[in-house]
Amino acid sequence: MAESDCTFSVFDPPAAFGDKRRGAKLLVFPLVLVVAVAATAERQLDWWETTIFYQIYPRSFKDSDGDGIGDLNGITENLEHLKELGIGATWLSPIFKSPMYDFGYDIADFYAIQDEYGTMEDFDRLIAKANELDIKIVLDFVPNHTSNESVWFEEALRGHEKYYDYFIWEDGTVDENGVMHPPNNWVSVFRKSAWEYREEVGKYYLHQFVIGQPDLNFRNPDVVEEMKNVIRFWLGKGVAGFRVDAISHLFEVDKELYGGRFPDEPLSGGLNGDPDNYDYLNHIYTKDQDETFDMVYQWRDVFDEFAAEDGLTRVMMTEAYSSPQLTMRYFGEGDREGAQMPFNFVLISDVGGSSTAYEIKYALDKFLTFKPVDKLANWVAGNHDNNRVASRFSPELVDGINMIVLLMPGIAVTYMGEEIGMVDGYVSWEDTVDPSGCNTDDPINYWTVSRDPERTPFQWNADKNAGFSSGHKTWLPVAAGYETLNVEVQKAVERSHLKVYQQLAALRNQSAFRHGRYESVAFNSDVFAFRRWHKEANYIVVVNFRNQPYTIDLSYFENVEGHLEVVVSSIQSPKKAGDVLEANRAEILGSEALVLKV
Ligand code: NOJ
Ligand code: MG
Repeated sequence: MAESDCTFSVFDPPAAFGDKRRGAKLLVFPLVLVVAVAATAERQLDWWETTIFYQIYPRSFKDSDGDGIGDLNGITENLEHLKELGIGATWLSPIFKSPMYDFGYDIADFYAIQDEYGTMEDFDRLIAKANELDIKIVLDFVPNHTSNESVWFEEALRGHEKYYDYFIWEDGTVDENGVMHPPNNWVSVFRKSAWEYREEVGKYYLHQFVIGQPDLNFRNPDVVEEMKNVIRFWLGKGVAGFRVDAISHLFEVDKELYGGRFPDEPLSGGLNGDPDNYDYLNHIYTKDQDETFDMVYQWRDVFDEFAAEDGLTRVMMTEAYSSPQLTMRYFGEGDREGAQMPFNFVLISDVGGSSTAYEIKYALDKFLTFKPVDKLANWVAGNHDNNRVASRFSPELVDGINMIVLLMPGIAVTYMGEEIGMVDGYVSWEDTVDPSGCNTDDPINYWTVSRDPERTPFQWNADKNAGFSSGHKTWLPVAAGYETLNVEVQKAVERSHLKVYQQLAALRNQSAFRHGRYESVAFNSDVFAFRRWHKEANYIVVVNFRNQPYTIDLSYFENVEGHLEVVVSSIQSPKKAGDVLEANRAEILGSEALVLKV
């Protein structure tokens, strides 16, 4: 048998298990790999299958020039922080030119860097430094909308037909008094009508998010090609993939099926009396349309063209808060490949501080139950749109949640600051800038929907502005308590969230966590545990979600008996690495989280 065939047959992973080019790459070093595999008999994992993806919200990570706003040089100068944590990839929220009505998710020029974040040269330096440190850079792709200050939208307003068709326009409705109203009842995610009138064209345009975010028309092939070019541009610059924003909003129903006008959406039955609220309607015409999935597969083809050129797998993560059935469709269908990581948001959307261990287990099982057998799960407990783990669960559960995110089977995603257990900052109504908060027009209750609290500056040290900026004022206030809750302190003390995080990141390299199987149980309404095992290696992770101690019989798990050794413990636990527990009567203290080795 030819050497290449032999190599391929030994290593070929299940077809969908990542990238078809892996075989081609292996051919370059067949002998080395044969030895490696003979020793471990493991499937070779690609970079994205083992790494941790760390989300940086650039505006809040590190300000290098004292204007109170984080920037690219701030990221470049602090990439070592990621390296020290054991992280190999970062995804950045948008860094492109934007008037910032939605803090960068309203893009005016997909090919330019926002001035306050730096220049294209700064970006190139970021990539170069990341390459040196072997950290992959993933960018945010925002295909659903542009900014109303984009050239495309401005040209549309000027009557340029090509660009007019880039957006979604509709005539208003006129009532018996001759007053014009929006075309239908569609509501923006950020409240109020999703339609905005433009005098210049005498029509309304659709914006599913803020008024400054006109939706692109993906039924126009020019838009499809235009946005593929955006992908090509950045992949060509060495970017390792994209997080894809607001994917379920990409298409609206084809209005030709409804007599040429977009139909009203039905009422959801909830939130009676507040037709401005997004949840007032059931979004059957503006979300999760079938065409969306095909577009994702088309983008994956573009990603794969690049990977075929230079051998670097480009990764796609899709942002959709959807049912598990819909979420799985982003992986691919039939012989079409899609996103490697349709974000698994259960730890954000399904559970919180009051959830029982049963509910936690049920939520964690969801993705694993629905996902195709040959795809990887991923775990996300936080991002710039949702309250922080310490605030949604509790500060005591920070380590426990990090144990779940980093040690469950699959890919881990961490929002910056979760490694030190940052808490939501207090942002007064006067200081509130997030459109989601501002659009409530409610100085009392704005905070329930404002996303500013989870976007407050990263806490580096106890200096002015938590070491984030030397400026007089930061774009959002620094959260209280930063003097003691910061990276510098957590590096210096013996036990800290940061140190737990480092230990967990290192544990991920063990075969039990890379290749091992998984089983879980809720021992009672408070204590959740799971086992990861592979060959001889056998680990148990126990998280007590309440502040009450229990004696737990961990020999419930197969092959778990005798002494168990503590490998990692949450910071408030009196147990230290190396301590020993009896499997059949393990004392688990209130809010304690442990990784145990059998
Ligand atoms: C999801 C992003 O994460 C969020 O921050 C943004 O406001 C919307 N998409 C609109 O782009
Ligand atoms: Mg700055």
